Amino acid sequence: MKITAISIFPEYFTPLDLSLIGKAREQGLIDFKAINLRDFTYDNHHTVDDTPYGGGAGMVMKPEPWGEAIDSALAETDAPVDLIVLTPAGSKFNQRKAETLASAKHIIFACGRYEGIDARVADFYRTQNQVRVHEISIGDYVLNGGEVAALVIIEAVTRLLPGVIGNPDSLAEESHNELGELEYPSYTKPANWRGLEVPEILLSGNHGAIAKWRREQALSRSQQNSSIEPQD
Ligand code: ADE
Repeated sequence: MKITAISIFPEYFTPLDLSLIGKAREQGLIDFKAINLRDFTYDNHHTVDDTPYGGGAGMVMKPEPWGEAIDSALAETDAPVDLIVLTPAGSKFNQRKAETLASAKHIIFACGRYEGIDARVADFYRTQNQVRVHEISIGDYVLNGGEVAALVIIEAVTRLLPGVIGNPDSLAEESHNELGELEYPSYTKPANWRGLEVPEILLSGNHGAIAKWRREQALSRSQQNSSIEPQD
């Protein structure tokens, strides 16, 4: 999978050198590149923002550098591209969206700052055949920019790619599966820690009873905590 992140802070993406994603990049499973938006400005100050039409507080990101930066990323593939514009006003990211994006060939993340990117950028790329535009929020809170949101999505999506996680079985029993279920609680040694015992059933060796207990735990956690509507 090819991933391009466009940002005025490409250094935000250095954590992608680490851990499982870093290894997957070394193995060629993920081809990641960060592009500096300011490379597509031509004035001495490398200006990427301007005041909003209609007035109001804050600055809006200018469409021209975004258009050129996105075009430069598009020029690197013939494959269909998923262009993700990160915005708190977008549709909410979840595990279903991560699964859908896991079959993408090339994802471009547009990481806006300030009051966001001129709306014509998303509108323009919606008219391009090669591009699917998604305006995505990672949650009901406002970040300073889309970079952290892009990192969240990159991690949720790339761990689903074949070969990224050592033991693919661990994906099967995770939280937020298609039933909207959350995972049961897990324990390891020691059996008693600070006076807290591991539930006795897990030490019983009775696999049927353990599976039943885990299902019950998953269900009660899901009823309390899940935000994904279970599918019927
Ligand atoms: N940019 C600022 N806040 C955001 C959020 N919650 N999700 C995605 N991008 C953002």
